[in-house]
Order: sequence, then C-alpha cells, then structure tokens
Amino acid sequence: MSIRVIAIDGPAASGKSSTAAAVARRLGWAHLDSGALYRAITLAALDNVRDPLKDDLTVAADERREAWSPQRLVALAEDLPVRLVLVGDAFRPEVAGVDVENAIRSPRVTARVSEIAAIPEVRHWVNVQQREAVMTHPQGVVVDGRDIGTVVFPDAPLKVFLTATPDERARRRLAQRGDRVDPAELQRESDALGARDLADATRRVAPLRSAADAVLLDTTQLSMEEQVARVVTLARQRFPH
Ligand code: DC
Repeated sequence: MSIRVIAIDGPAASGKSSTAAAVARRLGWAHLDSGALYRAITLAALDNVRDPLKDDLTVAADERREAWSPQRLVALAEDLPVRLVLVGDAFRPEVAGVDVENAIRSPRVTARVSEIAAIPEVRHWVNVQQREAVMTHPQGVVVDGRDIGTVVFPDAPLKVFLTATPDERARRRLAQRGDRVDPAELQRESDALGARDLADATRRVAPLRSAADAVLLDTTQLSMEEQVARVVTLARQRFPH
C-alpha cells in the first residue's frame, strides 16, 4: 500500500503552510509543517545553549566549539524533548511540554534557523520525527517543507512544488504581518527572502529543489482559494479512497 502523504515544497513565503493546512482540512487529513521542527530546535538552542555568535573570548575554545555542535543539538532535542504533538488536525511543535507554535515565528529564530537546518545530524533527527508522525495518522498527512518530496517522503504519491516571484512573496509576507507595503520595505523583504532561498538552495545537504516527479504550481497569479482547489483536485485523483 502506498503511503498517504502529500508533499508540498517550495521557497520561503510561497504559501506552502497555509496551502497545506487548508488542503488537509478539506481532505480530513492532518497537516505537518516540517519547518516548525527546525524552528523549534533553533528556539531550544537559543534558550538553552551558549550562542556561538555571542561567545566572548574568555570562554575556552573547545567549549565554544561545543556550543552548537550537531551532537549537542540532537541531544537537546531528544532530552527536552522537542516533539510534534497532534492537536486536532495539525501536528504542533512542543519544547519541554510547552506549545511553541507562536514563539518559533519570532525574528530571532528566523534569523538563525537556516544555520541549524544545514546540519546533517539535525536533518536526520527531524526526518525521523516526521516519518514517525505520519505512521500514527490513519487518514493521511499533508507535509510541507523544502525536501519533503526529494528526501523525506520520496515515495509520496502526490508532490507539489509551489513557486511565486520574490516580489509577490514579499508582498504577501508584509500583508500577512499587517505591515505597510511601501516600495522600500518591499525591496528589503524581497532581498531577505532571496538570501534565505539562496542559503536553503545551495546548502550541501537536502537543498531546496523540486522533485523530478513534482507538479509545479506557480501561484503568483493565483488566490489562496485557487491554489488550494488545484491541490485538492490532484489529491482526489491520486488518492481515490
Ligand atoms: O518554512 P519555514 O520558513 O518555517 O522554514 C524554516 C527554515 O527551515 C528554512 O530556513 C528552511 C528550513 N527547512 C528545511 O531546511 N527543510 C524543511 N523541510 C523545512 C524547513
């Protein structure tokens, strides 16, 4: 029997998570935002481990090297623990038993998450959590991220790669935050998104890219309703039961 996973990948602010959540709701499936796990580990590291960027030179060199070492981060995630908990129709991130869905969206986490997500040992740990979570759900799970169709669930019967121009993604992100969309702010946001995409697409492990068998969906001209409807139609074809 094939796995009941829909993989939705794409760059930052392409609407992956909103689309995945809406598709899951329409199908009666669960939603899993894999970026939330990378963010939760980043939050846990910032709150519990000496930050290597802030280290002063009075701290011993080997202790500084240890700070955000792969082993330290994975042990932290295991011990606190960092985990996904199914609440209603969504897997939510928890750190030490506390729901961190809001805390992980803060700018201090966003600024450092690419660094954490580039560590192979961390990625391996996150992938194991995702595969275990999916096994526990009887209906199916819509998983969104950067490497879901290429690495985490290469056998997913439906893979979608969402794109939109950097300007459109910047505009959506500012609108979502309720910020004014003036040209200078738009340019800044577009540049910041471009830098994060570049970091995610050029890292050595599991870079952001479309799977060869993914359906490409350019959402620049689509409303959220339209993009959700397209994915739901594909899902009903690929998962008739
Ligand atoms: O989608 P997001 O902005 O919440 O993702 C946070 C970071 O995690 C982003 O910089 C890329 C990384 N990420 C990843 O490398 N692989 C995934 N499957 C999901 C997110």
